[in-house]
Amino acid sequence: MKFRVPGHLLKIAPYVPGKPIEEAERQLGMRQVVKLASNENPLGPSPRALEAIREGAGRAHRYPDSQGHDLRHALSGRLHLPVDQIVLGNGSTELVEILSKAFLSRERGAVVADQSFIMYSIAVRAMGAPLKLVALKDYRHDLEAMAAACRDTTALVYIANPNNPTGTHVTRAAFDAYFRSVPRHVLTVVDEAYRDYVEAPDYPDCLEDLRNGRNVVVLRTFSKIHGLAGMRIGYAATVKEVAQALDGVRSPFNTSVLAQAAARAALDDVHHVALSKAENSQEATFLGTELARRGVRFVPSVANFFLVFTPQKGEEVYQALLRLGVIVRPMEAYGFDRAIRVSVGLRTENERFLDALDHTAVGASGRARKSYRVS
Ligand SMILES: Cc1ncc(COP(=O)(O)O)c(C=O)c1O
Repeated sequence: MKFRVPGHLLKIAPYVPGKPIEEAERQLGMRQVVKLASNENPLGPSPRALEAIREGAGRAHRYPDSQGHDLRHALSGRLHLPVDQIVLGNGSTELVEILSKAFLSRERGAVVADQSFIMYSIAVRAMGAPLKLVALKDYRHDLEAMAAACRDTTALVYIANPNNPTGTHVTRAAFDAYFRSVPRHVLTVVDEAYRDYVEAPDYPDCLEDLRNGRNVVVLRTFSKIHGLAGMRIGYAATVKEVAQALDGVRSPFNTSVLAQAAARAALDDVHHVALSKAENSQEATFLGTELARRGVRFVPSVANFFLVFTPQKGEEVYQALLRLGVIVRPMEAYGFDRAIRVSVGLRTENERFLDALDHTAVGASGRARKSYRVS
């Protein structure tokens, strides 16, 4: 019999990441390309993490500690949670995959916002599981509609807070109402990848929901404010039984020697976190003000990126900016045809982006710059 790839896998559109700087430089024959495409920390890794990576390199011939003892205990102390409620992952993306592997099947599905981090729907589709997409409301997760969309067959609900790509957040009050109405058999996954950037007073800490006995998984990552996206490490905090299930299906050495060491050191580098937050806050204000001054429409963001609306297709604006040495992200894949997502960078990088945007708008068509304006 002929080998056949399962049909549901053929329907998955692969995840398209931000273009690496080196690739863009090769392609363009250009130096000093600026990448504002993957919501990374423009200040780089914490110096303490770098030191731990150098030190850890000498142990690269040994397998990593499969239990991630030091990091998990440090997290346990920091989060005031028992260590057996914490599971490490090769980035929080891997935890999304492990969650789907553990809890989804052809019969048991998930509820996901239709314009959110694409890896949720990819992970659901990979399991051939039913996927219910719920529209955003005012660019935010509509928690009321998501709770109402749950059925007896729903196992997981994925919520990004703040959401990628809109940079919006859902409030404590919205979560309280959600948890009152969502069926008890549903496990709610709250992805807090960007939580450290948020300054809004009504932004919830969903670990409180976990401590209050709610059926929740909180995902966090070292890829964003800690500046360790290239190391690949994140964690899930959840109820003990769920942690056990995730531990059962994960690969034993899913986080490397260097990733564990770097994350352990980064956790203690509160100075780097505070600096990164302050830098982002200042530069997000700068970028927002400059976009508004140009009449460019964007969604106000609590995170380290903006969803920016464009007069032409996002892909065209992306290509035009790329030719000028600035990498952003077109947003068609997220269901926003005329938008790009731009990460907040250093002042020089933000200025490069704004400058390129000005040239793009004017260069693409005489009227383009005008059509960026809000009418
Ligand atoms: C909402 C959200 N969660 C998770 C991730 C990925 O995190 P990690 O690098 O830990 O896999 C991203 C990355 O862009 C994201 O936007």
